[in-house]
Amino acid sequence: MAPIKKIPVAILGATGAVGQRFVQLLENHPWFEIAILTGSERSIGRPYGEVARWILNDSPSRRVAEMVVQSTSQAGGVPLAFSALPAEQAREAEPAWASAGTVVCSNASAYRMDPLVPLLIPEVNPDHIALIETQRNQRGWTGAIVTNPNCSTITLVMALRPLHDRFGVKQVFATTLQAISGAGYPGVASLDILDNVVPYIGGEEEKIESEPLKLLGTLRDGAVDFAPFRVSASVNRVPVLDGHLVSTSVAFERVPAVEEAIVALRDFTAPDSVRGLPSAPERPIVVREEPDRPQPRRDRDLYNGMGTTVGRVRSCPLLDLKFSVLSHNTIRGAAGGALLNGELLVAEGVIG
Ligand SMILES: NC(=O)c1ccc[n+]([C@@H]2O[C@H](COP(=O)([O-])OP(=O)(O)OC[C@H]3O[C@@H](n4cnc5c(N)ncnc54)[C@H](OP(=O)(O)O)[C@@H]3O)[C@@H](O)[C@H]2O)c1
Repeated sequence: MAPIKKIPVAILGATGAVGQRFVQLLENHPWFEIAILTGSERSIGRPYGEVARWILNDSPSRRVAEMVVQSTSQAGGVPLAFSALPAEQAREAEPAWASAGTVVCSNASAYRMDPLVPLLIPEVNPDHIALIETQRNQRGWTGAIVTNPNCSTITLVMALRPLHDRFGVKQVFATTLQAISGAGYPGVASLDILDNVVPYIGGEEEKIESEPLKLLGTLRDGAVDFAPFRVSASVNRVPVLDGHLVSTSVAFERVPAVEEAIVALRDFTAPDSVRGLPSAPERPIVVREEPDRPQPRRDRDLYNGMGTTVGRVRSCPLLDLKFSVLSHNTIRGAAGGALLNGELLVAEGVIG
């Protein structure tokens, strides 16, 4: 399952908020070794340590800081790339890398809803990897594109998967409180976000309303048959550094008692193929019973930022059940999620 020697990887858009998380998570990774870092015209040809305005704790290693940033248009040369490009740049660059033989694990929204591209959360829909074969046949690529969902979608869907399996989700009403790191760097101006809440994030509600249907859809004859429920999302940017909280109400085909729902969430385990991966959390979901959890500052670092915390599971007077769910947006919701996808692809023999 584990590769015999470390696989060289590229990080596309390595200088931004998510790119830096990739660098941090890949520095001592047991399977992967950073070989290529790319950026925009602003950074090309310059040492990473000079052009990346580091916004995380610690700093990149000397080896990485001294690496020269390459052009994203110089595609290929490694079997695996992690993309933290803005959607517009990803639309052009990711197919070029896939065509040059690289499997691209992308955070960008550009190809998430492409019918030939897996939108993947290893604990939720690992079977959707099978789309890669059709993708390669139809596009003539030796590489591939695999995407992970929007950072609020992933938080929400982790909780919906076990509930949908047991009780059949009919409707979802989700209100997000999203951290400022979700806007990248420099992100939201301090004069807009300090002492404030901004009830708008462009394009976000549409993603949260559509992506769960693909993720919880069924793979049939080489295509994903979307799940039939509906989602209504309202998003807010809040003055928190990291961690997206989603207040959720759900209607079901078969209405569970609160205790039954808690048991379903607690019992949720990742498939065997996912459990042993280096970045897999010990458990996908932890359910808290305190009346005031989850909270971003206290719960976002669960299992090195890869865990999802659910709390406040209770009856809903409008739909059937309500709860709060939280995960770390730049780890579980971005770089860590894509890294876990890459690990699964190696373990399944798609890369190597
Ligand atoms: N932040 C989150 O929580 C989060 C979560 C999930 C998904 N995402 C997605 O992940 C992607 C990256 O987000 P981010 O928050 O890291 O953004 P960001 O901080 O703005 O970083 C953008 C990165 O893309 C590079 N870039 C910009 N224009 C480019 C061009 N023309 N050619 C090549 N590279 C270019 C930048 O390089 P230079 O610094 O050299 O200009 C930088 O490395 C986006 O698609 C975003 O939607 C973000």
